[in-house]
Amino acid sequence: RAFLHRLWKGNVSSKMLNPRLQKAMKDYLSANKHGVRFRGKRAAGRSRAALLCALRRRVRVRTLDGTEPPFSALGWRALVPAVPLSQLHPRGLRSCAVVMSAGAILNSSLGEEIDSHDAVLRFNAAPTRGYEKDVGNKTTVRIINSQILTNPNHHFIDSSLYKDVILVAWDPAPYSANLNLWYKKPDYNLFTPYVQHRQRNPNQPFYILHPKFIWQLWDIIQENTKEKIQPNPPSSGFIGILLMMSLCREVHVYEYIPSVRQTELCHYHELYYDAACTLGAYHPLLYEKLLVQRLNTGAQGDLHRKGKVVLPGLRAVRC
Ligand code: C5P
Repeated sequence: RAFLHRLWKGNVSSKMLNPRLQKAMKDYLSANKHGVRFRGKRAAGRSRAALLCALRRRVRVRTLDGTEPPFSALGWRALVPAVPLSQLHPRGLRSCAVVMSAGAILNSSLGEEIDSHDAVLRFNAAPTRGYEKDVGNKTTVRIINSQILTNPNHHFIDSSLYKDVILVAWDPAPYSANLNLWYKKPDYNLFTPYVQHRQRNPNQPFYILHPKFIWQLWDIIQENTKEKIQPNPPSSGFIGILLMMSLCREVHVYEYIPSVRQTELCHYHELYYDAACTLGAYHPLLYEKLLVQRLNTGAQGDLHRKGKVVLPGLRAVRC
């Protein structure tokens, strides 16, 4: 538990991870499969206020709008939702919950508190049915990675998980954010199922995140971290937190920074154990969490007992 106590204080480094995770991180650094070239300036010692101000200045949620090649020539302007994601709730949402899929949320009894928020964000195939007491049952937005759309085991077309919610999909693109390259060679081909789903369900808000937004978040994590972070996109969890900080006045994040219930159980809904789910291997997850820890305005007791971090919405930040 020494590591957990240090994480709560923001005082950890990758050197404290187990050798297997350290090796995985090193391998990702040398592979650099997305061609990342960090050109920003390190500013690792920023105060909370300065950090929030930098986020407010820099973070612009962006989704594919069909105006750029190759999507412009493929008729995507008419295909994407007419109302942009940031305009779905033009006056903003008041209080929002981001519910991580971590095993540590089991036996938390957080369901009621989570459902009391105006909007609830969940990830990928994380269910609510059968887990209501711990995770609640309201879902407003679901962020899904491209594997959800392409792997038949997830039944993207007919599972109720993906109905009656705002869907936001993403796929790792080259760091250059060259849309032509990405379209030709996505990690998993989400474009075909996206087009099909838009045609069949034109009234469901369904967006694909712009690679520039994803890599902008990566730049911000690297900028504010002393160590060299994995040159891979941030986790869905971090993407979701920043999305909700852009849309909501206040964001409550559950079991991202682990509570006393910390476990190697990867997901609350799946019997699979791996420390990498909580601490990262492919994603720069440890560094994301250190950054979010620095932004926390919630009580330490809520962090320890609930695994809860409270963050201000970016619109309310004064610079
Ligand atoms: O695994 P999946 O990406 O679907 O989980 C959603 C997000 O929840 C992750 O991207 C990660 O940010 C967070 N998570 C976590 N600890 C876990 C499992 C998930 O922080 N054990």
